[in-house]
Amino acid sequence: MRLEGARVEENRLLAPEHRRMVLHAPDIATSAAPGQFVHLRVHDSLHPLLRRPFSVARRDVTAGTLTLIYRVVGEGTARLADRRPGDRMDVLGPLGRGFRMLPGKIPLLVGGGVGIAPLIFLAEEARRTGRQVELLAGARTAALLVGEEDLREFGVECCPATDDGSRGYRGPVTGLVAGRLDGRAVYASGPPAMLRQVQLLAESVPAQLCIEGVMACGVGACLGCSCRTRDGGRRLVCTDGPVFDAHEVSLDG
Ligand SMILES: Cc1cc2nc3c(=O)[nH]c(=O)nc-3n(C[C@H](O)[C@H](O)[C@H](O)COP(=O)(O)OP(=O)(O)OC[C@H]3O[C@@H](n4cnc5c(N)ncnc54)[C@H](O)[C@@H]3O)c2cc1C
Ligand code: FES
Repeated sequence: MRLEGARVEENRLLAPEHRRMVLHAPDIATSAAPGQFVHLRVHDSLHPLLRRPFSVARRDVTAGTLTLIYRVVGEGTARLADRRPGDRMDVLGPLGRGFRMLPGKIPLLVGGGVGIAPLIFLAEEARRTGRQVELLAGARTAALLVGEEDLREFGVECCPATDDGSRGYRGPVTGLVAGRLDGRAVYASGPPAMLRQVQLLAESVPAQLCIEGVMACGVGACLGCSCRTRDGGRRLVCTDGPVFDAHEVSLDG
């Protein structure tokens, strides 16, 4: 884990609610793995005080860059959206435990909304090591399906699902999962309701879930991000996760 003074290289609108940020942070870019995240100080002022966590969506070791895809939902992400190329930002990372790619199984990636971000990095790594990848991506409407231009760069087409039927399958992305589980290992990232559904559907196959709980310190010190396990224990999302075995964690409530 490193604390790096990163330079903003790009911060552009991708979709009505989503932006793509490229940061020059060579040390973190070199050591990041799919499913890990960075903790950003979104602004130099004391407000907001707490860092905000974002998954690494891509990294380029040669250029020393990290790409994030984020949705503007509140004050911290609105401040992030104001950052301009050339601005400096304090970045802590890479943090957490990422996806563990299982040998002998075709990876089935399931992303909901901006949850697609860590799956882009995972898909790129899978392609780099010669694996076939299937990626299912869901959003409320076609304009909010993001990440496809990144995925195409390394030859991954996604199978889309939209709640309003404006593109691909009409309905939740989990509606595409059931018929595709044979010989697959599932890697999912998205909102809690989607992850709960994936957990149910993937009961009989290996599956890993990237959980995006609310976080404060990001390094295991505040104990504010704990989640429950099925055996009654507790795990910290920031250091034990954010990626967990789907059969280990309890997502109820
Ligand atoms: C490991 C991890 C990886 C993440 N990766 C991404 C990513 O790649 N792209 C992306 O857009 N977002 C990602 N998030 C979520 C992102 O951190 C939150 O959306 C962001 O912190 C909200 O900050 P804010 O100040 O704009 O919103 P706030 O004003 O703090 O909150 C606005 C709304 O978002 C909710 N919220 C706040 N923090 C979180 C959180 N950590 N997770 C979920 N909901 C939250 C609040 O309950 C509230 O409803 C990730 C979160 C985690 C824990
Ligand atoms: S966010 Fe502080 S312990 Fe996880």
